Amino acid sequence: MMHTVCLVPGDGIGPEVTTAARAVIDASGADIEWVPLPAGATAEQLLGRTLPERTLTAITAHGVALKGPITTPIGGGFESVNVRLRKKLNLYAAVRPVRSLPGIESRFSNVDLVIIRENTEGLYSGLENEVVDGVMQSLKIVTAAASKRIAKFAFDYAVARGRKKVTCFHKANIMKKTDGLFLECARRMYQSYADRVQYEEMIIDNGCMQLVRDPSQFDMLLLENLYGDIVSDLAAGLVGGLGVVPGANFGDDCAVFEPVHGSAPNIARKGLANPLACIMSGVMMLNHLGATEKASRIRNAYDSVLGERDLSLLTPDIGGRGTTQSFADAIIRAMK
Ligand code: NAI
Repeated sequence: MMHTVCLVPGDGIGPEVTTAARAVIDASGADIEWVPLPAGATAEQLLGRTLPERTLTAITAHGVALKGPITTPIGGGFESVNVRLRKKLNLYAAVRPVRSLPGIESRFSNVDLVIIRENTEGLYSGLENEVVDGVMQSLKIVTAAASKRIAKFAFDYAVARGRKKVTCFHKANIMKKTDGLFLECARRMYQSYADRVQYEEMIIDNGCMQLVRDPSQFDMLLLENLYGDIVSDLAAGLVGGLGVVPGANFGDDCAVFEPVHGSAPNIARKGLANPLACIMSGVMMLNHLGATEKASRIRNAYDSVLGERDLSLLTPDIGGRGTTQSFADAIIRAMK
């Protein structure tokens, strides 16, 4: 069955990793019609807009996109395109599976975690102002509706995938109202799932310590927006870095698949970017589209390339001497 997928290359290493992912997905035999679309700093330079209307319209119409990272200027400049995209398309749930991979040397070999991040609220509301000279404030928005929605998503995901336990990280000891509401909604939602899944809560500072000490004690994590952002990168560090962790953003009508990593300007256009996180995001996308056999083909292929550990093929972030292209080509060869 043919699927139409929007392809947003993004900025920095985005074009390199999305080109590699597209080549691997096409080589799997998946029947995809790609619709390339602009967004980000590159789009601003070319078209004068960071998020052109036609990009939003096409993703809404087709319902699925594979997206590269987009640069967000620090301390000024344009508002995050990622945040706008997630809000405009109501992509309220970010799903980030973090698992140990064969052949990648990292601190742990037994990590198998799924991070569920609320994607539309919290400090990402971007509501900031100067109260008086020298005093800034940033509003942390937490609503019952969004907190219930993400808790339901997490428990439904756990049940559907046969996951055992959801741990909610929070700071409700200090942010009694905002994190308190998030926690209360998770607790209440859990009542409808208590016969099928375990649930626990952890103050986030302890949670981070526990994660780096023994990640195998966790199965799924449920977090508000900013905590989810930070803990995703922390968790990536447990399994080999940002080059190997995929992601997906789900709404009720749309899904945008993208690696957890950013545009990595320090390695852009050098052929050094690890394409695996984007390829793995493509695998999540194929599963979402029901092309599960193609998804398994790609997954088996990259597991086998990683397992062989031919350093001339792998990218430097995971100990290799190869390039984005050599790694993607090896995965394509492994599928033949
Ligand atoms: P980053 O994730 O781009 O890079 C952090 C470190 O990881 C760098 O050393 C980079 O070289 C390395 N890295 C990242 N992806 C890699 C890959 N595929 N292969 C090998 N190494 C990789 O984070 P940073 O530097 O904090 O942010 C750069 C820009 O990306 C910023 O403008 C930020 O706003 C944006 N960003 C965009 C995201 C998105 O579009 N979803 C997510 C995170 C950041």
